[in-house]
Amino acid sequence: MRNLISLADLKPEQLARIVARAVEFGTGGVDDKPLAGRQVGVYFRKSSTRTRTSFWSGATRLGADVITFGPDELQLTTGETVEDTSRVLGQYLDALVVRTNGDVAEMRRLGGSPDLAVVNALSLDEHPTQAIADLTTLAEHFGKLAGLHVLVVGEGNSSGAALALAGALTPGLRITLLSPEGYEVPKSTMDLVDELSGGEHQVRRITDPAEVDGPVDAVYTSRWQTMGVPKADPHWLEAFEGFAIDRAFFERYSGPDTVFLHDLPAVRGQEVADEVLDGERSLAWRQAHHKMTAAMAVLEWCVVGEN
Ligand code: CP
Repeated sequence: MRNLISLADLKPEQLARIVARAVEFGTGGVDDKPLAGRQVGVYFRKSSTRTRTSFWSGATRLGADVITFGPDELQLTTGETVEDTSRVLGQYLDALVVRTNGDVAEMRRLGGSPDLAVVNALSLDEHPTQAIADLTTLAEHFGKLAGLHVLVVGEGNSSGAALALAGALTPGLRITLLSPEGYEVPKSTMDLVDELSGGEHQVRRITDPAEVDGPVDAVYTSRWQTMGVPKADPHWLEAFEGFAIDRAFFERYSGPDTVFLHDLPAVRGQEVADEVLDGERSLAWRQAHHKMTAAMAVLEWCVVGEN
């Protein structure tokens, strides 16, 4: 059993293989049931439309049986430790897909059992399976990742952090993270990008839209209030002025083949205009589909996959 708690747990070739397998699931379906006889738990302490359902559906398509736990259904809520929970669930389950209010460090404690593969389905600081779905969407559309330039606009949230790490692990993939000042991807993530890549990467963090070196291959955005969590500054929206993706913003950084990505859910009219999200360049809905193919590729890798 192998955990997938952070993309930093993967070698570049492992990430490439998981993405390639997800592309395959997206085009060829599933011929066999590699998880037949396996048990997958899905434990979400926070709301989810895509990730929870796509892991459930994906695990079932791979032949696994699925048990789901709501936010208050495990004894964790009454004080049982994360370590004891992991030790017990490892005796019943092969994998546990988890969305928490905590950070990667807390999830690592849950992933301590050698008999249980723990998958991070979003923690406070990283959304690794989202980045795998994003890379899958790009790889399917462009037929490659090397040489692409992705402009990630908005809050430096868990999706942005995961994309930064994906950039560190994917040779030739250029990621520009454009955020309002004070809302950037954390410096600790950028330090990890340096560490993972030995300083050989094309991941850049900027706050001034004038510094974007366009045209880019993909413009990506995310909800500004991640998971609907209010920001400390009541006037935070003022900082995001000029960062909304409307047609003019999209065209400013686009060439003829540039696509638009959004991890969803969207707040239409805030971080993205309808004309972009629903426009012919939008891959957001295919990206949502690849949440499931990414989930399948991750579960297969964690439970029965080869190196
Ligand atoms: N993109 C994403 O993680 O969506 P959900 O919050 O609906 O799972």
